[in-house]
Amino acid sequence: MPIFSDLTSQSLDFLSSLFIFVVGLFVLFIIFLFIADISQTKDAIRRNYPVIGRFRYIFSTLGEFFRQYFFAMDREEMPFNRAEREWVYKSSQGIDNTMAFGSTKNLTPVGTPLFINCPFPTLDEHATSSSAVLIGPYCRQPYEAQSIINISGMSYGALSKPAVRALSKGAKLAGCWMNTGEGGLSAHHLEGGCDIVMQIGTAKYGVRNARGKLDDNKLREIANLPQLKMFEIKMSQGAKPGKGGILPGSKVTQEIAQIRGIEMGKDSISPNRHPDISDMKELLHFVQHVRDVTGKPTGFKVVIGSDGWLKDMCEEIQQCGVECAPDFITIDSCDGGTGAAPMPLMDDVGLPIKETLPMVVDILTRYGLRQRIRIVASGKLITPSGVAWALCSGADFIASARGFMFSLGCIQALKCNKNTCPTGITTHNKKLQKGLNIEDKAVQVKNFVDKIHYGIGLIAHSCGVKHPRELSRHHCRIVQSDGKSIALDVLYPEPEILERYKANSH
Ligand SMILES: Cc1cc2nc3c(=O)[nH]c(=O)nc-3n(C[C@H](O)[C@H](O)[C@H](O)COP(=O)(O)O)c2cc1C
Repeated sequence: MPIFSDLTSQSLDFLSSLFIFVVGLFVLFIIFLFIADISQTKDAIRRNYPVIGRFRYIFSTLGEFFRQYFFAMDREEMPFNRAEREWVYKSSQGIDNTMAFGSTKNLTPVGTPLFINCPFPTLDEHATSSSAVLIGPYCRQPYEAQSIINISGMSYGALSKPAVRALSKGAKLAGCWMNTGEGGLSAHHLEGGCDIVMQIGTAKYGVRNARGKLDDNKLREIANLPQLKMFEIKMSQGAKPGKGGILPGSKVTQEIAQIRGIEMGKDSISPNRHPDISDMKELLHFVQHVRDVTGKPTGFKVVIGSDGWLKDMCEEIQQCGVECAPDFITIDSCDGGTGAAPMPLMDDVGLPIKETLPMVVDILTRYGLRQRIRIVASGKLITPSGVAWALCSGADFIASARGFMFSLGCIQALKCNKNTCPTGITTHNKKLQKGLNIEDKAVQVKNFVDKIHYGIGLIAHSCGVKHPRELSRHHCRIVQSDGKSIALDVLYPEPEILERYKANSH
């Protein structure tokens, strides 16, 4: 008994000394923070309110996290609200995504599209599926693209290896194309066997020579791959028009160096535009050159700021012949996504797709080129209503980046630029990548595509047409500032083809 009570009192002594030691350490730590805060000059809050001022930063960081779960309403968050994300999650996971009780969507904000249901909707047995659309009729190898929605450009580098592999496999299952983004073509893009659109960025990664110029031999070699269907010259993207970038040497691993055609371990600079394309003639010449070398449809991607240059381009095309036209134009919205971009460009430069899509369609129509140049639209078109609006406005195809990221499980943590993406999609941290199961996510990608096609089919049939590609401007109305809606074909009446191009319209 005495031995037992000795042990107990020794343990109590030890625990109380430990407690005093820990409290002492804690007090010392607070004193250290206090001295550090009052003696620094960079941060006024910490200097004026030592130690306690630090909570402001802790809470604002935590707030970003908690708002998503507890405070933001379903239709409130940006860039995508919870209702939109949930729709993609449920669609991807094959969960029932019907809703109960009634819509939670506010239908009054200016710009809200409303579709015009027909008193006699298309009977299910009369509905058909949309047929494939031919791109690049004058190429040696035109491309017949079936899927209305496709995967927009995201580089291997911005995306992790398992994310690229899952998208590649998913695109194959879904029958849509996958755009490589500007970081070049990797084996991971090809792995699933899907159709590939290779993007040629300003640094010409993957198809460049040692001086950063286009290397025709590399281009030809890549174009020979049967999976390679089209080439997209990136002029600009919505989130950062006019911005290049530096890929720090630390990120230029042996694999990245080999894929992109740059030196391992050395910083690599993407110019803020193609140095060899400085006017319309050079753009059309570059398009023609890539198409001649590859034999495959070639177009370009832009975010639109003004329309004058597009008219000049159409004039130029009519001069040199419709064969010299780009086979497609991808119009990105100013609110498009990115791995990383400066806020002034992300927030304030370029026009939204809502405005630019009808604008570009009308210009091409006026110059008699509407059928010659296919239009791919991108920018937050991740639900059937967004995609159906784009079809009504005249898009031939829709491309989405973040919609497909959500289908992979992205939770909009907004950490794409930090290498700490919690879902393993935009991080190269192997531990975080573990959560991304390639086979499961590939099926989710396919489910997402299927549900988009199903959803736009529902809208089309409700509007009284047989399939989504029959949707046109008179099927959609846009809510105005007085709360009333106006039909798209009234807002943007079908333009007349210019007299001088009537005989030569395509
Ligand atoms: C992680 C990430 C990487 C991207 N990388 C590229 C790229 O390499 N090239 C490009 O043209 N656009 C890139 N984008 C932009 C997308 O291709 C797309 O144009 C834009 O995000 C709009 O589509 P969304 O609203 O469906 O995301 C990227 C976007 C994201 C989110």
